[in-house]
Amino acid sequence: MGTATINLDGNALELETVEGSEGEKALDIKPLRKQTGYITLDPGYLNTGSCKSDITFINGEKGILRYRGYPIEQLAEQSSFSEVSYLLTEGKLPTKSEAEEFEHLLTRHSLVHEDLKRMFQAFPPNAHPMAILSSVCCALSTFYQDQYDPLNPEQVKINTIRMLAKLPTIAAYSYKQSMGQAFIYPDNKLSYCGRLLKMLFGYRTEQYEVDEDVEKALDKLLILHADHEQNCSTTTVRIVGSSQANLFASISAGICALWGPLHGGANQKVLEMLDTIHQDGDDIDKYVALAHDKSSNFRLMGFGHRVYKNFDPRAKILGEACETVLKKLKVNDPLLNVARKLEERALSDDYFKQRNLYPNVDFYSGIIYRALGIPTNMFTVMFALGRLPGWIAQWKESSAHGTPIGRPRQVYTGPNTRDYVPMAKR
Ligand code: CMC
Repeated sequence: MGTATINLDGNALELETVEGSEGEKALDIKPLRKQTGYITLDPGYLNTGSCKSDITFINGEKGILRYRGYPIEQLAEQSSFSEVSYLLTEGKLPTKSEAEEFEHLLTRHSLVHEDLKRMFQAFPPNAHPMAILSSVCCALSTFYQDQYDPLNPEQVKINTIRMLAKLPTIAAYSYKQSMGQAFIYPDNKLSYCGRLLKMLFGYRTEQYEVDEDVEKALDKLLILHADHEQNCSTTTVRIVGSSQANLFASISAGICALWGPLHGGANQKVLEMLDTIHQDGDDIDKYVALAHDKSSNFRLMGFGHRVYKNFDPRAKILGEACETVLKKLKVNDPLLNVARKLEERALSDDYFKQRNLYPNVDFYSGIIYRALGIPTNMFTVMFALGRLPGWIAQWKESSAHGTPIGRPRQVYTGPNTRDYVPMAKR
């Protein structure tokens, strides 16, 4: 490792440099405050590395995304979501017997305690499913209170399985509750995505046949969302976990962070935006002009990314998948035409070009979810199901690295000390 010298107030300080396996460089600033009194200031962590990680590599300039070294394009084409879940949480691709054992465990743990089901009835009928998902996920911890020690590897192992197996059930129940329909139990004969589809769209009165094309498309979507290094929700999961909160509580916090429209909630907002544009006579220019106008507070949802400044490889895969899926399912969605036109227009627009704003993963995922019959307010829930193995892997890694409790500093800019003024004198 090299060193870098910083000159502050006439004093030179040597800081160690750190280099990652893909050549990313960092300055280790841990001794900075102790030796100089300075801290670094970086709201939104635009230039702050919060950890070293072996899980996911992104090169935003080149549009590269790899899980544990495997390119996202290969995983999306050749792997399955449950295999990717194993890869992320266990750190390697499973052998045949490991994969079988993993699948078996995911089915054995797919049911939730019958008492937990009552919780769904406590929400108003129009409750957003992300609120339900996060609440019920946290409530799940109450069923395992003597088994959720984050420092006990056996307990972490079984809770990893519980989370992966039960979150689809909870997600589907939240949807069924909002529709006023009976819950469908997980069918353990089906694949991970097949189970989810049946729980979402099956009826107790009828046989449910899983459509293979829908199942495959959903699997691909979940793979593409499975991890994305230190984004807002993952950082949340790590920070909550750093206080040694249990896995269920940490994931519940991650779900809340994902909900926001600038993060996972963007997939719902994209669809709503496309629909508004369509209702407004497909007037693309009007909305591009609105995006230019800062006073409008309008952003083209599904465009731009903190890390990708060239293209989002997930959006590229999804853009192509979108055509295939819609064709296979014989869906003719006018919103896809709006999306295509909007993409074309934005990509040739100076404002978007100068700021390197490209379609992100949320731009096309919504159109595919819609074609698969998934209601708009469930889009971010689907994102959460996809991101779950990544959150778990990052939570485990943070704990295994003995990461200290997350606790940034600040530069105080408020009033200097002053005397309390009694009410009568204010
Ligand atoms: N539409 C119009 N202008 C935009 C957009 C957009 N979608 N995104 C960024 N800009 C402008 C922004 O106004 C700023 O302009 P200026 O330099 O003139 O002040 C410049 O581009 C840089 O934007 P920023 O907000 O500083 O960039 P950031 O890296 O902090 O934010 C982002 C990244 C994803 C939050 C942002 O691009 C955005 O709000 N996009 C729309 C929401 C969205 O699609 N989110 C999903 C992200 S991908 C999946 C996920 O993470 O969940």
